[in-house]
Amino acid sequence: MSETTSTIPATVLFVDDEENILRAVNRLFIDEPFAVVTAASGTDGLRLLGETGDVALIVSDQRMPGMNGVEFLEQARTIAPDAIRMVLTGYADVTATIDAINRGGACRYLTKPWDDDTLVQTVREAVETYRLIRENRRLSALVEQQNAELQEWNRSLKERVLEQTSRIRLQNEDLRGVNERLAETFNGAINAFAALMALREQGVQDHSRTVAELSVGIARGLGLPAAEIETVRTAALLHDIGKIGIPDGLLYKDRQTFTPEERAEFLLHAVRGQAALDGVEALREAGLLIRHHHERFDGLGVPDRLSGNAIPLGARIIALADGMDRAIAKAVGNDPVGATLNAVKGAAGRLFDPELVPHLEKPARAMYGARAVQHVDEELEVNPGDLHCGMVLSRNVCSGTGLLLLDCGAVLTEHMIIAIKRYYALDPPKHGVYIRREG
Ligand SMILES: [Fe+2]
Ligand SMILES: [Fe+2]
Repeated sequence: MSETTSTIPATVLFVDDEENILRAVNRLFIDEPFAVVTAASGTDGLRLLGETGDVALIVSDQRMPGMNGVEFLEQARTIAPDAIRMVLTGYADVTATIDAINRGGACRYLTKPWDDDTLVQTVREAVETYRLIRENRRLSALVEQQNAELQEWNRSLKERVLEQTSRIRLQNEDLRGVNERLAETFNGAINAFAALMALREQGVQDHSRTVAELSVGIARGLGLPAAEIETVRTAALLHDIGKIGIPDGLLYKDRQTFTPEERAEFLLHAVRGQAALDGVEALREAGLLIRHHHERFDGLGVPDRLSGNAIPLGARIIALADGMDRAIAKAVGNDPVGATLNAVKGAAGRLFDPELVPHLEKPARAMYGARAVQHVDEELEVNPGDLHCGMVLSRNVCSGTGLLLLDCGAVLTEHMIIAIKRYYALDPPKHGVYIRREG
């Protein structure tokens, strides 16, 4: 008997009208690991069956007064359909045997008098068979239940995964929105700084934006990664922020007439600019480029007299763009851009990184070309209230006190028109907005 099935409760029911047979049976099975119950008639047997669960085997005498063995087994079959049934008889009765098998569902025919060992062995095997069937059924039910649980678990897991995925997607969207707003705020703050600087240094109101645009053009030409280009743009926009602390007398003085002390004081703006931004971690990298935007490629610049590639690349780019924009302000002739580019080329290796100079021409031509003064008959002066989307600016849009809002050449969008109206309401210029005449 197997270890697992021996614990399954099992009872064997013997039915016989002879008391001595029942006593013999009780004695024979007294040490077996299953219970034995006996009944002296079919009627008693049926009652016991109703009261006893786990009946593994029913052994019934065939010839009994009242209900015979076949009739008893037939009824027992409906009460305990799982029990194994056997007939025990002392008479060789073929008809009764066939009936016991067909009607009573008996699986074995035992004869009286019996051989003890054979009977014990037969009963043990029947009990074990019953137990195996029961165990098999229990395990099948367990597997079925576990399968059902597994399916349910799978289904709920899938649901949970879907739910979490959609929650994460929503959170990502929120986060993207927050990031976009942060980036907008950051860029807005940088632009506000640049606008303040423009107010401080009158006459060069486009300088920061021009240097930023040129620097980005050079950086793109070099194929720098987007993040590095953004740092260069920020640093270029703010490169002269340290000038805010320079006294008016010095700021507006012609640089050619600086005394050595004045020159040193003026050039301190690079270090002051870096120091001013140092408190903002996101601007520290840009701050470093600002510190070095007055270094010279030959090592004679300020503040650290760095030379060549020891100067951060972004600072070399900004120095080149800065030099171009300062020089073009003084350029004369038919082709001021070309003349300035030639002058810059002449200073390559001394002031500027010679490897960067070839990347300057394309953005410089594109930007200064677009800003070339329009003929009066090619432009219209329009009130902010009459602006439409798609109109092209023929001049920069500035507020009354000179704060630059939009560059010449910009194609108006609804957003821009709203901004222009706000500018004109807060700080009105003395003229309308200049746009290119169509056709
Ligand atoms: Fe500067
Ligand atoms: Fe500058």
